[in-house]
Amino acid sequence: MRHDAILTVRVAQIHQETPVVKRFTLVPVGTDRLPPFSAGAHITTYAAFDGRVLERNYSLCNHPGTRNVYEIAIRRSDNGQGGSAGWHHHIRVGDTVHISPPKNHFPLSQRARHHVFLAAGIGITPFLSMMAELRARNGLFELHYAAPSRSYCAFREVIETSYPESRFYFSEEGMRLSPNVLCGAKVGTHVYICGPSSFIEAFSQQAEAMGFPKSNIHAERFTAPTPENPRPFRVTLRKSGRDVEVAAHETLLAALLRAGVRVRYACRAGGCGTCELGVVEGEVEHRDVYLTDEEKAANTSIIACVSRAAGDRLVLDL
Ligand code: FES
Repeated sequence: MRHDAILTVRVAQIHQETPVVKRFTLVPVGTDRLPPFSAGAHITTYAAFDGRVLERNYSLCNHPGTRNVYEIAIRRSDNGQGGSAGWHHHIRVGDTVHISPPKNHFPLSQRARHHVFLAAGIGITPFLSMMAELRARNGLFELHYAAPSRSYCAFREVIETSYPESRFYFSEEGMRLSPNVLCGAKVGTHVYICGPSSFIEAFSQQAEAMGFPKSNIHAERFTAPTPENPRPFRVTLRKSGRDVEVAAHETLLAALLRAGVRVRYACRAGGCGTCELGVVEGEVEHRDVYLTDEEKAANTSIIACVSRAAGDRLVLDL
C-alpha cells in the first residue's frame, strides 16, 4: 500500500441501491471536515479482508461542495479479487476504513459548451457529482445510461427526479444505447464515457470515427485491460544498470515496485499517465489510453501499469 496521505473515515450509512450495488456514506473521524473534491473525483480505499489490504478506487458520487461526507457506490463482483465482495459482505455501519484524499483523473472540461455523459452500469457514479456540479452552475449536459433493467439501475430514482431529461436504456427491455446518440452534436461538445472496458473502447472509437477530436473524448477506467497470453520480459534500468524480471502474471509497475524501484502511480489502469517511464531501447506493446497514437508510435515511453514489452527486453530511462 502506498501512503501519500491516509484519512480515516467511519461508515455512517449503507444503502442497498440495487441487488448488487451498495452505497456507503463515509464521515470523517477526529475532525468534521473532509478534503474538498471536484466533480469526477475518486478516492482509493484500503480495506482489509482476510488479512489482505485491498486497494480499490471508487468515484465520489455526492455533491462536490460537500465537506462532511463522502459517498461511494460499489457493485459487487463475485468473480473479482475480493475487494467489492469484501465491502458488501464484511463492512458494517460503524466500521472505520482508511482512504486516500480525493484525486481527479476525470474532470469536467472547462472549455466544453455541452457535456454528453455515457454510462453503463456502475459507470454512472462519476456522473452523479458531475451533473450536480453542472446543475449548480447552469451548465448544459445530457445523460445516456445503460443498465440491465430498472431494478438493476443504480440511482435511477434520484436521476429521474433530479434530471428528468435523462435517457435510460434497459437491455432486458430490448433498449440499446448506441453511438447514434452522438449524431448531430454541436461544436464544443465533450463526451464522457464510463463503464466496462469494452463499452469505453467501443464508444471512444465511435466518437472518434464520428469526428470528435480526441481532446473532447474523456473516459474513466478503474480496471486495467487484461492482456491475452502475457509473456515475461526483462527490463534494464539504464542509470543504475539493474535488471528487473517482469513475470507473465505481473505488470511492469508491480515488478519495479517489488524490486524497490520508486515509481509514481495513481490509477493503475492506464488512464492517468502518472506512471509514464522513458524507453531507451526495445519495442513497447502499448495497452494504455493515455498516450496519443503519435506518442505510441514514437516508442519513447511506456505506461508501466498496463503496457508491456513487445519482445524480450526493454531498456528504461531509470
Ligand atoms: S498509474 Fe495511471 S496510467 Fe499508470
